[in-house]
Amino acid sequence: MATTPTPIPAPLLHYLLILLLLLSYQQHILTLAAPGGGKWNLLLSNIGVSAMHMQLVNSDRVIIFDRTDFGPSNISLPNNQCRNDPNDLTLKVDCTAHSVEYDVASNSIRPLNVHTDVWCSSGSAMPDGSLMQTGGFNDGDRNVRVYKPCDDDSCDWQEFDVALRQKRWYATNILPDGRQIIVGGRGQFSYEFYPKKAGADQSYNLPFLSQTNDPRIENNLYPFVFLNTDGNLFIFANNRAILFDYANGVVVRNYPTIPGGDPRSYPSSGSAVLLPLRDLQGGANVTAEVLWVMETMPLARVMGDMVLLPNGNVLIINGASSAQNSSSIPRMYHSTAILLRDGRILVSGSNPHAYYNFTGVDFPTDLTMETFSPDYLDPRLVRVRPVIVSPASHSQIGYGQQLVINFKAQAESIEVLSL
Ligand SMILES: *[C@@H]1O[C@H](CO)[C@@H](O)[C@H](O)[C@H]1NC(C)=O
Ligand SMILES: *[C@@H]1O[C@H](CO)[C@@H](O)[C@H](O)[C@H]1NC(C)=O
Ligand SMILES: *[C@@H]1O[C@H](CO)[C@@H](O)[C@H](O)[C@H]1NC(C)=O
Ligand SMILES: *[C@@H]1O[C@H](CO)[C@@H](O)[C@H](O)[C@H]1NC(C)=O
Repeated sequence: MATTPTPIPAPLLHYLLILLLLLSYQQHILTLAAPGGGKWNLLLSNIGVSAMHMQLVNSDRVIIFDRTDFGPSNISLPNNQCRNDPNDLTLKVDCTAHSVEYDVASNSIRPLNVHTDVWCSSGSAMPDGSLMQTGGFNDGDRNVRVYKPCDDDSCDWQEFDVALRQKRWYATNILPDGRQIIVGGRGQFSYEFYPKKAGADQSYNLPFLSQTNDPRIENNLYPFVFLNTDGNLFIFANNRAILFDYANGVVVRNYPTIPGGDPRSYPSSGSAVLLPLRDLQGGANVTAEVLWVMETMPLARVMGDMVLLPNGNVLIINGASSAQNSSSIPRMYHSTAILLRDGRILVSGSNPHAYYNFTGVDFPTDLTMETFSPDYLDPRLVRVRPVIVSPASHSQIGYGQQLVINFKAQAESIEVLSL
């Protein structure tokens, strides 16, 4: 991060040596091409926090955070700041950061200051590009935090205390109409919106969430919520789904239980992405026909991540019980994977413990950050890889506006067989 040359103090030399060791280790990873093609690259050996949550924002930074009650993280808050939080369960005065900003262009980390516990909170990007994160645990369970992107390292989290109507821990957020709708959370069979409309904007009951809740294991947390083309929300919890008209609070459709009936939401966490709804014209009724086509994955996996790739494929990555040896760093519970603008997948985190535990455990807390470059980024494909010509990066596009994308490639085809 530092740009002015300074003498290298002894501990830093030690650190550089470790880094060099890690770099040679990275070479080792690079020679291990992943089974499905693609390459792994270790970006940073220590980002200071274990990446439980990650979100790319429009300044090409990635906002990363874990929880505030893990005890000290491995990165200090800037300017000798400390967080004084009498409600924190582990440290009342904590001078370490539990959130960092990763700058993709410079491959560097900057600490951010999040005030209350964001553990298993939920959030989404807002229309202006801000990241809005709601709820969490303990002192953070009704708080709202907003990070508004900037290019000059001046931005940080802004926090709004007790801004939600209900405590929301393991809820799901989606942005259907410019506001976030926040669905569920532990012990919460309801939803609410944020920002609030002036006056009586409250929390609304959603009986589907109590119907799908097995109180012994609370297995309908982090419901999978998607905006359907007809404006309704598709909400999946435990082992079934509804189509929900959130504007009128009406269940439009109940879908049958999935084959086998085993739960898919947290803590039996599977993962979900929305596939292209290709032949849909506004309001068409396709969800009914395509539901519950089952395929078996090559490997058993829980708490994994799914990432939609620019070539239309879905990457299934991370998680436990994954015997796939493509990354030599196990990415278990509390690990994350997101797509970067250049097509690489940023992969970080893993901490199945209640604290940062680096020794004496089977799967130590992980502070590394890697990228996975799928084989579409193989240098041998450079001539056929499409490059977007217009619109320019960061163009503004209105909601519902038709978008024409022009792209070019140097060649139409390549001697693919030589790969
Ligand atoms: C991070 O970990 C390193 C290596 O264990 C240690 O030397 C350093 O003091 C830690 N930094 C913080 C802020 O905890
Ligand atoms: C949608 O599909 C369901 C089941 O196939 C059918 O009962 C319903 O009438 C359809 N709705 C519309 C608007 O076509
Ligand atoms: C993964 O690595 C282990 C230990 O090296 C090996 O026994 C196992 O067969 C490998 N699994 C796959 C799917 O390659
Ligand atoms: C994990 O770290 C915490 C806090 O430092 C410590 O109390 C606990 O004993 C550690 N657990 C293991 C298995 O080492």
